[in-house]
Amino acid sequence: SERDSLYIIMNFAKDHYRDLLMKSDEGKSIGLSYFRERGFNDRTIEKFELGYALNEWDNLTRTATGKGYSEDMLEKAGLLIKKDEGRKYDRFRGRVIFPVQNLSGKVIAFGARILTKEKDQPKYINSPETEIYHKSNVLYGLYQAKNAIRKEEFCFLVEGYTDVISMHQADVENVVASSGTALTEDQIKLMRRFTENVTVLYDGDAAGIKAALRGIDLVLKGGLNVRIVLLPDGEDPDSFSKKSGSTEFKKYLHDHTQDFISFKIGLYSKEASHDPIKKAEAIREIVASISVIPDPIKRSVYIQETSMLLKISEAVLFTELNKILIQDR
Ligand code: UTP
Ligand code: MN
Ligand code: MN
Ligand code: MN
Ligand code: MN
Repeated sequence: SERDSLYIIMNFAKDHYRDLLMKSDEGKSIGLSYFRERGFNDRTIEKFELGYALNEWDNLTRTATGKGYSEDMLEKAGLLIKKDEGRKYDRFRGRVIFPVQNLSGKVIAFGARILTKEKDQPKYINSPETEIYHKSNVLYGLYQAKNAIRKEEFCFLVEGYTDVISMHQADVENVVASSGTALTEDQIKLMRRFTENVTVLYDGDAAGIKAALRGIDLVLKGGLNVRIVLLPDGEDPDSFSKKSGSTEFKKYLHDHTQDFISFKIGLYSKEASHDPIKKAEAIREIVASISVIPDPIKRSVYIQETSMLLKISEAVLFTELNKILIQDR
């Protein structure tokens, strides 16, 4: 079938990019040394099947068609771009390659990172949607993480490819990324097949905190338990794990994991402690998150916690909660 052909051609491309990384002069001197500079070892490169696309217009297309693959299939796989004027070129050129595997380990997409800073070029280019790749229900790293997630009984959720990879190298393997999309309901359902517990570990910047706030509500809505780790300003799991080393990094994760209520209180607490208006705002924000939790027992446990932490009566919180629940009905 067409799907089978797509799996086969994506596997071919993955092998080709790996060969280029490990064996071609350009791949070794540019791609491999880039990964080495980032601290990725051979085992990691192997485990994530990392590769390199030559800086040529049609290296993959020429190689693939030479082996009997059709341009039509290359295009359907998102590997070849054809313009109306008849121009055509490989989608991924002069970039390091991060294959995306499905649950059974088959490659269904690629992310490709630029090596130099070029103003008008995106840092990452990703595969488009294809017959075998629907990005809204894929989690990067899940194939490599699934056993560890079951064992640890929770999963870290990070932003990017390199965060997943560096955490594996730091010996934390229960980690997935939403990579290139805002977290979706389907991704949460997928995670739910492996665990009920998610720890959001986004970049320590304003964008990361904003995305975490949105992610928290989505995860809660999906019926999962959510915890947060805040990273120091300007760090992401990749940079921070390298700076800290595995032992320190794991200790940081352990010591800085908080539930979503403490996290939200922390966000507002600077102002909230002496400003009643800010405190009211914080309370409403927290109750709003609690209101999306499907399980009424969990809702009341969190109401109790909020009541204790913010020193406000449970009755007031339940009134506010019920107001929201009735509105949303
Ligand atoms: P980041 O900008 O945080 O990149 O985007 P990163 O993962 O830390 O990458 P490095 O360390 O600079 O290599 C987080 C994720 O968002 C997606 C990628 O999946 C990336 O890993 N992204 C980012 C894109 O799809 N396109 C972009 O241009 C940028
Ligand atoms: Mn489909
Ligand atoms: Mn970021
Ligand atoms: Mn990042
Ligand atoms: Mn990074």
